[in-house]
Amino acid sequence: MAAHYYSRFRYLLVISIVGVAVAPLSIHASHPASGQPEFVSVEPTYPKIDYSVVAEPEAVRRGEYMAQIGDCIACHTDSSVDSQAFAGGLSIKTSFGNFFTPNITPDKQTGIGSWSEADFLRAMREGIRADGSNSFPAFPYVYFNRMHDSDLKDIWAYLQAIPAVKKENQGNTLSFPLDIRFLQYGWKALFFYWDQGEFEVDPAHSDAWNRGAYLVQGPGHCSMCHTPLNVLGSAKKQHYLTGAPVEGYWAPDITSSGLATATRFQVADVFFKGTLINKAGNVRGPMAEVNHDSLQYLTREDSLAIAEYLKSVKSTQPKVSQSIRASQPHLKLGKQVYTNACSACHSSGAAGAPRITDSSAWNNRVQARPLDKLYQHAIGGYNNMPAKGACPSCSDNEIKAAVDYMLKTALTASQYKNFQHSLSASKPQSAGVNKPVSVKDEAK
Ligand code: HEC
Ligand code: HEC
Ligand code: HEC
Repeated sequence: MAAHYYSRFRYLLVISIVGVAVAPLSIHASHPASGQPEFVSVEPTYPKIDYSVVAEPEAVRRGEYMAQIGDCIACHTDSSVDSQAFAGGLSIKTSFGNFFTPNITPDKQTGIGSWSEADFLRAMREGIRADGSNSFPAFPYVYFNRMHDSDLKDIWAYLQAIPAVKKENQGNTLSFPLDIRFLQYGWKALFFYWDQGEFEVDPAHSDAWNRGAYLVQGPGHCSMCHTPLNVLGSAKKQHYLTGAPVEGYWAPDITSSGLATATRFQVADVFFKGTLINKAGNVRGPMAEVNHDSLQYLTREDSLAIAEYLKSVKSTQPKVSQSIRASQPHLKLGKQVYTNACSACHSSGAAGAPRITDSSAWNNRVQARPLDKLYQHAIGGYNNMPAKGACPSCSDNEIKAAVDYMLKTALTASQYKNFQHSLSASKPQSAGVNKPVSVKDEAK
């Protein structure tokens, strides 16, 4: 299977510091040598288990399945170096330094072999390590927290049965004060304790629906990619599963509206056959990895349960409201669209997007091609730039307004003047930039 190994960390994970400061932290896995996110050719493979020698073969089997759905192997294996499954060491590069995923094999010295089952359950539910310190939320315990004890115990049995690998955890190089695990309490107090708790069955729905909801909210941690994050790196509940940018890809809307035209079987085919909904081609990027390491192992029944649940999810779409559409002047509309649908990449530079603060990058682009081409790229997609950014429901005009706003904000006064001059020199364009505007240039 040609799954490529691209990092799956949300590139915008923000960690709050108790009452001190809130700092944006861009995060992605990267190759240690180059420091660049890149495709890695070695794929992690699940270790072979000899069920005839393990103490509780049934629990281990069930635990293996749950560990697959939880995709533990993806983050806890450094495929670029040695591909020792679950031995950790995957580098997560952040703007403050690197940190590395820990070894979760049963090695006593370097793994979690000396932990008790209770230590493990507490780590999975509360993000508290055996020594009592806090885990960083790059470990998706906020989702695993929803899991049933029985499933977590099965995973524990499985992790005890895989081969122990002696591999020292690498020290993190986060700079002060982010290295202080204690400060993670700030993040927890703000977000985590809200929805802490094991998944509860909703008797108004079918068994399959409940199973699907459990898999999506708990072990599958689908929200980590498919829900937009707020400024503190926590998923925005009201926009649950309505889609979000991840590593230069767009994790699409997988609620009832996004999947309205798809049958349950077509949704299941996303996992098994790697085909996108509406014949949109093959699954690529982070989702291809998730399929390879995780979702391809779903039973048919569980995949259809997930589909049944997803097709029922109702969320508020984060989009420009009608009133704004109708009443706002062009650039104000553009700013609105930009904030909602473009800033995720263009403010941070995620996925290689030209930053809105990088005037020379934008100047080079307006010099290199006519404005209509820029519009066309923003509307139709261009390399890592997804079609219409994060707003597939936006009209062409709204996207053009966003481009106009971006150019007005990004270019320096003289670059902008020059650019407008070149516009009026060439044939008239559909640009809104020539209209009188009253927008404060703030992002410079
Ligand atoms: C998206 C990436 C990701 C996934 C998926 C993931 N983990 Fe982790 N995990 C991490 C990171 C990062 C840490 C370290 C956090 C820190 O340093 O505070 C971690 C820490 C842990 C720890 C604590 C170990 C220690 O020494 O502190 C355990 C136990 C653990 N993970 C188990 C699991 C299991 C079991 C699964 C699958 C059900 C899983 N993880 C899935 C990223 C992930
Ligand atoms: C690491 C990030 C990540 C995780 C975790 C993830 N997805 Fe995705 N998903 C994506 C991306 C990115 C795409 C788009 C892939 C593409 O464009 O080729 C996608 C596509 C999909 C699609 C296809 C939608 C369409 O319109 O074609 C479905 C369905 C889906 N994901 C369901 C899930 C479910 C269910 C889970 C959890 C069990 C999940 N995903 C977990 C990133 C992720
Ligand atoms: C998922 C990340 C992402 C989002 C969201 C996004 N962009 Fe981009 N954008 C990119 C990347 C990456 C490039 C650079 C593509 C290249 O040159 O290869 C880019 C380039 C562009 C360009 C320059 C195209 C050219 O021809 O040089 C424009 C204009 C643009 N984006 C507008 C927008 C607008 C408007 C939105 C919101 C509606 C938006 N982008 C949302 C990632 C994104």
